[in-house]
Amino acid sequence: MRTVGIGLASGVSAEEVLAAVDAVLPDPRAPVRLATLDTRAGEPGLVAAAARRGWALTGHPASRLARVAVPTPSAGVAARVGTPSVAEAAALVEGGSLLVPKTVHGRVTVALAVPPPHPLVPGGPLTPRTAPAVLQPTGLRLAGRAVVVVGGGTRAHRAVAGLQDAAAVVTVVAPEVTPALEALATAGALTWHPRHYGPGDLRGAWFAVAASGDPAVDAAVAREAERERVFCASDDPAAGAVLPATGRIGDLVVAVHDAGSAERATDVRDAVLAAMTDGLLPVAAPTTARGTVVLVGGGPGDPGLITVRGRQALAHAEVVVADHLAPQSLLASLPPEVEVIDASKLPRGRSMAQEQINDLLVTHARAGRRVVRLKGGDPFVYGRGMEELQACAAAGIPVEVVPGITSAIAVPALAGIPVTHRGLTHEFVVVSGHLPPGHPQSLVGWTALARLRGTIVVLMGVDTAPAIAATLVEHGRAPETPVAIVSDGSTPTQRTVRTTLADLPRTIAETAVRPPAVWVVGEVVSLAT
Ligand SMILES: C[S@@+](CC[C@H](N)C(=O)[O-])C[C@H]1O[C@@H](n2cnc3c(N)ncnc32)[C@H](O)[C@@H]1O
Repeated sequence: MRTVGIGLASGVSAEEVLAAVDAVLPDPRAPVRLATLDTRAGEPGLVAAAARRGWALTGHPASRLARVAVPTPSAGVAARVGTPSVAEAAALVEGGSLLVPKTVHGRVTVALAVPPPHPLVPGGPLTPRTAPAVLQPTGLRLAGRAVVVVGGGTRAHRAVAGLQDAAAVVTVVAPEVTPALEALATAGALTWHPRHYGPGDLRGAWFAVAASGDPAVDAAVAREAERERVFCASDDPAAGAVLPATGRIGDLVVAVHDAGSAERATDVRDAVLAAMTDGLLPVAAPTTARGTVVLVGGGPGDPGLITVRGRQALAHAEVVVADHLAPQSLLASLPPEVEVIDASKLPRGRSMAQEQINDLLVTHARAGRRVVRLKGGDPFVYGRGMEELQACAAAGIPVEVVPGITSAIAVPALAGIPVTHRGLTHEFVVVSGHLPPGHPQSLVGWTALARLRGTIVVLMGVDTAPAIAATLVEHGRAPETPVAIVSDGSTPTQRTVRTTLADLPRTIAETAVRPPAVWVVGEVVSLAT
């Protein structure tokens, strides 16, 4: 930072000081600091001038100033205050060189010094712009504008992701880039110059990001940006911009700056987004409209396994029509004014007829409410989601589908069983066991399934397991094929029982497995530890 050394008489006004300083500053808005003799640093006019502009003011002892070599020492001044120079010595006391030698403006003498060149980068450092002033947050409209990113690592990649959301025209300069950046370049989504940064790379850019990971390179980029008057985001404290921690919900962008701690900014960003997602911060515009139905897949039961979009829809719901396999703790956290309707469809038990559920959805949506139909797993996997969508569509009610994590894949996964594994299984089939083989209404090709080498995942098949296992063995699947039955997946009572296809009926009887359960047939079961 540049330093203005000041010598002044007692009783000088702030206006006199500012007029003298402005006379030597090429740009009055440029950040500077003031330095003077310590016995003068408390002069009210000087203090007021510094405060008015937000400049730092330092007083140095005469003994220190006397050791600074200056172009125009004065024996008279030395005799009066103990140092042959005040203004020039105070300007040069931290090093650097004089840009403006001492000049006298009425009762004020000023001299201007610039700092020494930066040891790493030819041309010296930039003036740090971020300290001590706070950051000025600004939303940039970068759509269609050229932005240069120097660097090809993960930090550059994250910056590029944000810039692409902003529809900027991105050029990446880096000898190597991450595979994801390379794929974007190959797809024509950005321009990649596979080489080191060189002066001139920022020409024509509106904005730049220096994320090379090399402080010397980032400083050089920041300095070119300064010369070209391009804002440059970088960790370099001299760079003109800082990228905030950002997150987005619909059109609402949350950006958090913390010059002191990037980690704290990220924590605050996460907390705000989570509160908005959960509806605790009712500032986010509802992402669903009134008079609509959202079919939400709630996942296998753990409230953490619903999607973000699903949580948002729930947060703005006025009526929730929920299945018993939907995450119940999410219902418990809804505000009291939300109407929760239990549409339990217990297997072989009490059931609210599907037509009744369809009617409920249509009636509440017609009354102008935001309706969420909350289901377990995914709405379109044995969830009758399409029937409900069709009923709403027939009534002219707009429907949004929010897919969920299906128990067919997630529950085996939570028990450590992958449904595919390289070199072992290249296929998996999800099948409903609610009707046993041979049932006149069954649509399942059980004999063809028996010839499958891959994984078979059976849902709704606890009671029918003996008949299914017998059919699979009868038509070709080896009786010793490993089987795992996973019940209450993702809940505190999750249990896994391992057996073979031949022993499945006995195991189910002995272990008293009850729905909800998924059972998995295939070699992948042996992979679970
Ligand atoms: C009507 S189906 C609904 C499936 C759901 N739409 C999905 O995608 O997961 C219900 C069956 O899913 C399986 N299921 C659902 N949640 C489960 C869980 N948490 N643990 C084990 N099985 C589950 C059981 O086979 C249950 O009988």
